[in-house]
Amino acid sequence: MSQPAVQLASPPEATLSPEVFRRAEALGVTLLRLRDGGEARALTASGRVVEAIVASSLFSGALRREWSSLTAAPGTVRELWPGVRVASLRPGPGRLAVHPPVPKKLYAVLLLGPELTESEQFHGVCGEAGLDRGAAAAEAQGDSTVSAGEAHRLALTLSWMCEDDGNLHRRGGELQGLSLELADTYEELSLLYKLASSLRVKASPETVLRDACEELHQVIGFRWLALSLVNDPRLNDVSGQTICLHVGDFDPDEMDAAADALMQRYPDLHSPMIVDRAGEIALPGVESLGQNFLIIPMRLDDGVLGVMFGADRLDGDLISSVDAKLCESLAGSLTIYLENHMLYDDAHSMFLGTLHALTAAIDAKDSYTHGHSERVALLARMLAEQVGLGHQVCERVYLSGLVHDVGKIGVPEAVLCKPGRLTADEFGLIKLHPQIGANIIRDIRQMEDLVPGVLYHHEKYDGGGYPTGRAAEEIPLFGRLIGLADAFDAMSSDRTYRKAMKLEDVLAEVTRCAGTQFDPELAAAFVQMDFAPFDRLIRKHERMRRAA
Ligand SMILES: [Fe+2]
Repeated sequence: MSQPAVQLASPPEATLSPEVFRRAEALGVTLLRLRDGGEARALTASGRVVEAIVASSLFSGALRREWSSLTAAPGTVRELWPGVRVASLRPGPGRLAVHPPVPKKLYAVLLLGPELTESEQFHGVCGEAGLDRGAAAAEAQGDSTVSAGEAHRLALTLSWMCEDDGNLHRRGGELQGLSLELADTYEELSLLYKLASSLRVKASPETVLRDACEELHQVIGFRWLALSLVNDPRLNDVSGQTICLHVGDFDPDEMDAAADALMQRYPDLHSPMIVDRAGEIALPGVESLGQNFLIIPMRLDDGVLGVMFGADRLDGDLISSVDAKLCESLAGSLTIYLENHMLYDDAHSMFLGTLHALTAAIDAKDSYTHGHSERVALLARMLAEQVGLGHQVCERVYLSGLVHDVGKIGVPEAVLCKPGRLTADEFGLIKLHPQIGANIIRDIRQMEDLVPGVLYHHEKYDGGGYPTGRAAEEIPLFGRLIGLADAFDAMSSDRTYRKAMKLEDVLAEVTRCAGTQFDPELAAAFVQMDFAPFDRLIRKHERMRRAA
């Protein structure tokens, strides 16, 4: 049967604690377990007289007659015959499980009075048990006896003690239940905390999903655990993928097929579902993967993103509602992560697309510099990687290279595209473009760290550049990286006034100008690079220029 995520606790069993036994013995009274059919058994050590009374047919018959009265209220004392009194303490095991109108079992206490040996029933009990009446009377006188009034008070005291003991026992059970619940909650929180730490938008989705599934697999221990995502272009690399972890041999194609079949079987599932027997799913191939399944939908507002499956706990227990809750929390967090990743990817693609469009518009002002910004960006990033800068920094260097000449938008086209030599005034206008570019991007929060590459890419290592004349390390690293890439591309591509230089000549020029125009360390690293990616980009831009 498919089951909801609810569990029923077993009813607690009423028992007497060792403490009750110890106190009863200290008080010299006998604890009894009674049944509604008249059966009685002494639970504490007792003498021959007490054994004979409890085993007698007289006692059994009297119990049957008095059963309703005895069970009416704990602490009630019933005198079965002169000197033999019984008081109920509390219902015995079984009452809570079946809820009969009258308890079928009782714990009780036997209280003997001094008048016992004078009664005719005492004669009958001795006869039935084969006891010598005189010796039995002498033994009974030695036992603890209490008067009718004392019996009443003693019974009430013992009954209250048992009630307190029962409450203590029940609260102990509740405490144990709470402890288990707390342990489950701790596991859940611990897993979700670990997951939250790893849910970084910039980590690859496959890594995040696999790490999360491995954590979950360790906590619950499924025979196999799978996370299957739908085909959706917004999911990029993980679109249509199934991440599967398992113990033992499984055919990956079989698992993929089963995951697909399960996803198609439950397209409208909105909450976790536990399937106790694979036969209930009635899908070919599913039974070979397990018997007890957990199916958790991963949904967005506009539809299903994927499904998480777990099958058969390794410890042999059935998958519980606690397991389902934990998996649901994890699947929910992963769904939010994937949604955020898709939004981030959209925004990042739009940002990059906008930058490319902007730089293409600038480069288009001069057909001879077509693709220049993209090539400078590529070279600057390659150089940053060559000198060992981190991935994030290299990406920012690339973006800074893309926009390094954005200030040319403020330079008249007639000056920018002039085929002959520039006058001093015209060159003065050209020299404004780093500052204009920096002014354009400085106020865009997402681009402010790109400013140094834009503002300082025409500075020279010996201080002979513009716009500030800074030298050596005073020139920010982005400016030194992009300045070198910019000069290399200018020498390597056709210009209005000359043809492109050969690679070995350009590299020789870079080496010659190390320490004057270029940072010597960067220049040394630059000439070691593989320029194949740059050559491919040059050819691509050439094809685009001819096609335009
Ligand atoms: Fe420039």
